[in-house]
Amino acid sequence: MSDETWRSPDEIQAIFNNLAPVYDELNQSLSFGQHHIWKLMTVQWCEPKKGDIALDICCGSGDITQLLGKKVGKTGKTFGLDFSKDLLAIARQRNQTPYPIEWIEADALNLPFGDNYFDCATMGYGLRNVVDIPLCLRELHRVLRPGAKAAILDFHRPSIGWMQAFQQWYLDTVVVPQAQKLGMTDEYAYISPSLARFPTGPEQVKLANLAGFTQAIHYPIAGGLMGVLVLTKN
Ligand SMILES: C[S@@+](CC[C@H](N)C(=O)[O-])C[C@H]1O[C@@H](n2cnc3c(N)ncnc32)[C@H](O)[C@@H]1O
Repeated sequence: MSDETWRSPDEIQAIFNNLAPVYDELNQSLSFGQHHIWKLMTVQWCEPKKGDIALDICCGSGDITQLLGKKVGKTGKTFGLDFSKDLLAIARQRNQTPYPIEWIEADALNLPFGDNYFDCATMGYGLRNVVDIPLCLRELHRVLRPGAKAAILDFHRPSIGWMQAFQQWYLDTVVVPQAQKLGMTDEYAYISPSLARFPTGPEQVKLANLAGFTQAIHYPIAGGLMGVLVLTKN
């Protein structure tokens, strides 16, 4: 999945550091607030329980991390991991939960944790951005304990033609112009090519199987505009 025409990790890191000040506002308006529902579904799909040790990879400003933190409660522990220090600073500032959350600046392709450590994990809009998807899935598999579940939320290309056309129209005529007003054209123009190279649901399942997950199911949501890949480590 490494691809020389794709952006380098440094470029991706710079994009997200630039986006940090407007990231939450844009997410909220561009998804009409729906991203909260999709994030909640993702958290529920990884089945967090009180006392669990949970990981949110590519946590950004920490929406999903906080939801995980609430689920695992005061007896649990949640780690939010990202390589954008600016988004992590916002995540730290926004965190209102009284639950133990640790924010870690690190690479999703080289997780700074031992094997079989986490009871559950999430990733929201991160897998599409990493430069090596198979490696990211192998790292996720490595750090989960046997029996643990992970749920990965991201954009998805709908299989129905008119929905695909709608998605492209929305990205080109709503998302990019709105981002342009905030001086973030390049950052949001990047969604469309990243989606074009992103594996479809069935392709994601195959990659997850190759990474060691014997159980992998991809659920299209929001009419197939988004999807959640649910993985279990045996
Ligand atoms: C679109 S944002 C999603 C943030 C958050 N999960 C959400 O749903 O709002 C993608 C995040 O992935 C992070 N990211 C991309 N590649 C990464 C990598 N290799 N290691 C760590 N973080 C990465 C970016 O810094 C960014 O915060």
